[in-house]
Amino acid sequence: MTVVRMNIRPETPAGKIDRAIYGHFAEHLGRCIYEGIWVGTDSPIPNTDGIRDDVAEALRRLRIPVLRWPGGCFADEYHWQDGIGPAELRPRMINTHWGGTVENNHFGTHEFFRLCELIGAEPYVNGNVGSGTVYEMQQWVEYMTFDGESPMADLRRENGRPEPWKLRYFGVGNENWGCGGNMRPDYYADEYRRYATYVRNYGGNRIYKIACGANAADNNWTEVLMREAARFMDGLSLHYYTLPTGEWHEKGSSTEFDVSGWFNTLERTLFMEELLEKHSAIMDRYDPDRRVGLIVDEWGTWYDVEPGTNPGFLYQQNTLRDALVAGVNLHLFHKHCRRVRMANIAQTVNVLQAMVLTEGERMLLTPTYHVFDMFQVHQDAESIPVDYVSPDYTYEGRTIPQLSVSCSRGADGILNLSLCNLHHAEGATIEATVPGLASAGISGRILTNRELNAHNTFKEPETVKPEPFESYNLQDGSLSVQLPPASVVVLRLG
Ligand code: AHR
Repeated sequence: MTVVRMNIRPETPAGKIDRAIYGHFAEHLGRCIYEGIWVGTDSPIPNTDGIRDDVAEALRRLRIPVLRWPGGCFADEYHWQDGIGPAELRPRMINTHWGGTVENNHFGTHEFFRLCELIGAEPYVNGNVGSGTVYEMQQWVEYMTFDGESPMADLRRENGRPEPWKLRYFGVGNENWGCGGNMRPDYYADEYRRYATYVRNYGGNRIYKIACGANAADNNWTEVLMREAARFMDGLSLHYYTLPTGEWHEKGSSTEFDVSGWFNTLERTLFMEELLEKHSAIMDRYDPDRRVGLIVDEWGTWYDVEPGTNPGFLYQQNTLRDALVAGVNLHLFHKHCRRVRMANIAQTVNVLQAMVLTEGERMLLTPTYHVFDMFQVHQDAESIPVDYVSPDYTYEGRTIPQLSVSCSRGADGILNLSLCNLHHAEGATIEATVPGLASAGISGRILTNRELNAHNTFKEPETVKPEPFESYNLQDGSLSVQLPPASVVVLRLG
């Protein structure tokens, strides 16, 4: 088995891993909001104020730091006033992007803030630039955050919420280069400046304004936005999805794949590193002090939908491969934590790389959920450099690194070492030196399976779940770890 030497350097921390990197995204799309989160107060499914209890509890346990809503593409056709007031009086609309279904607006602003309260997440509201007006956006912010007497604050009170909500994150449009209006970057930069002007700070509320950023490798978009509008923004977004084939018309199945489907997916997901480097380099030129955050507010796997499901609902299964994708990307965000301040995996329930899947009253946790759970220890921890050279993972003439590694130190002083072995068949032995380790207590958890496409179903919901990990050995201050193939491990050292 390949032996990999690692040197962990706690004495030179490399920045704080903002817990918002562990953020999520929930859109009015397919069965994410309706059924996945919102079942209504009359539902036989146990709920609190219409929000299903099983899902809320699972998300609360995950310590989700921030939740983005209502879209996505849906955000730029959402008119927030449709989603307030008595539910039976709310207008119905067509969700044109996602399956042409009827949206009854029963889940709106009040319900979203209630969800955030129940799961303990900070709200991130995405405003409508594509088909909304400046006035509408201004009024929404006033409705949510103004404390005094004003038409919108009074309307909020009439609707049962006397005090304003605390709202930090606000997105000024979504994918305005595409579904959010097909704009050119210079045009959007000007629109951004205009809309953002009226996104006001009321009372003590301070809004972190996020501009729509690039579609994957569109460096010119970042260049123009930074040049023309950086001083008016706090964050600039980036969207990148991992498709096994790289082709939108035939992306590949979530469960039916062979070794090449495994390898290609991991190779494509690693492209995130190049994206972070290139967009950060552009941002560095305009903002050397890194005031503006890079906000990766959509990322994750995107497969062909599950056979027999609505193509507009983006429902897909989630396997051990997704667990590796999650681990690798979270490690990249840690590595770039001085610029990447938030990331939001798409999407929380029943859509794309979800945390939980539901079917009627049943719910299951996906392998991706378990990685987010195991990695909780990294939230708000200090990133600790690890020197190592990864062995190559070569398949059909192409090579990627076999290992992805990250280390952090939490407020409790304990070091958290997470290790992903991307190789489908080969294990690795890690020999790590860490100052002061001789007297440390160690505990570990692992997520793995013999089958690369192992996943959880409603019949067998616990096929992939974290297990205690004990394949390590501490001798003379050096830690030796036997890492199985296709695995994610988290070790607590201290
Ligand atoms: O997450 C699904 C969609 O992907 C979002 O609505 C959109 O922003 C992106 O293209």
